[in-house]
Amino acid sequence: MNRSPTNILAGELEAPLVAPSILSADFARLGAESQAVLDAGADLLHLDVMDGHFVPNLTMGPAVCSSLRNHLPEVFLDVHLMVTDPGQMIEPFANAGADNLTFHIEADGDPQDLIKRIRDHGMSAGVSVRPGTDASALHSILGDVDLVLLMTVEPGFSGQMFMENMMPKGRAIRELLRSDQRLEVDGGVNERTSPLCRKAGCDVLVAASAIFGSSDYASVIAGLRGTGRVATRS
Ligand code: DX5
Ligand code: ZN
Repeated sequence: MNRSPTNILAGELEAPLVAPSILSADFARLGAESQAVLDAGADLLHLDVMDGHFVPNLTMGPAVCSSLRNHLPEVFLDVHLMVTDPGQMIEPFANAGADNLTFHIEADGDPQDLIKRIRDHGMSAGVSVRPGTDASALHSILGDVDLVLLMTVEPGFSGQMFMENMMPKGRAIRELLRSDQRLEVDGGVNERTSPLCRKAGCDVLVAASAIFGSSDYASVIAGLRGTGRVATRS
């Protein structure tokens, strides 16, 4: 890959980043819908990759990532792997232009090795925890990842109810992260639940149904970020 994308997940942030999950987009109009959420102020795109084994749903693979990369050369593509064997997906997603690859701590493979291989392929590395997995499962690798993805629904489907009881876990993880590491939250995030996430220290807010289910993307995105309506890109 010849791109050298700016890693918008790195460094200090002035405001939380909003990451629409394209899982709730109209797949027949994916390019246009992705462009529309970016024009409405989204910071990056979140791609939910499910293998029908780690979770009971089957979604998208590297081909979709590659098409988005060709259509939107500058966008930051954040790939959330809900697959049993994430190691197998590193090279295909690097070749497809992914910028960040997040694997689940509950999946197969040695986490340290996965992180190293993701970085060796030019991407940043994230790790995610299912709701039922204790934060302690991450302790040995927390210093080595760019991002932790806190699940606030059981992974697999969009449109589920936000688990507010995950907020103490989020706060506990945030306290162990450096300020240049991101705490991303995913599942049931909407304008009502996003203040709880921000208060817990989450600084990347993923939302599928709240954004794509709305007729006013800009208003929802600004509401999630907590900044009111922002100027849209020209
Ligand atoms: C769930 C996925 C989420 C999901 C979020 O397994 O990881 O990204 O699409 O959907 P909403 O925002 O509708 O809960
Ligand atoms: Zn996700």
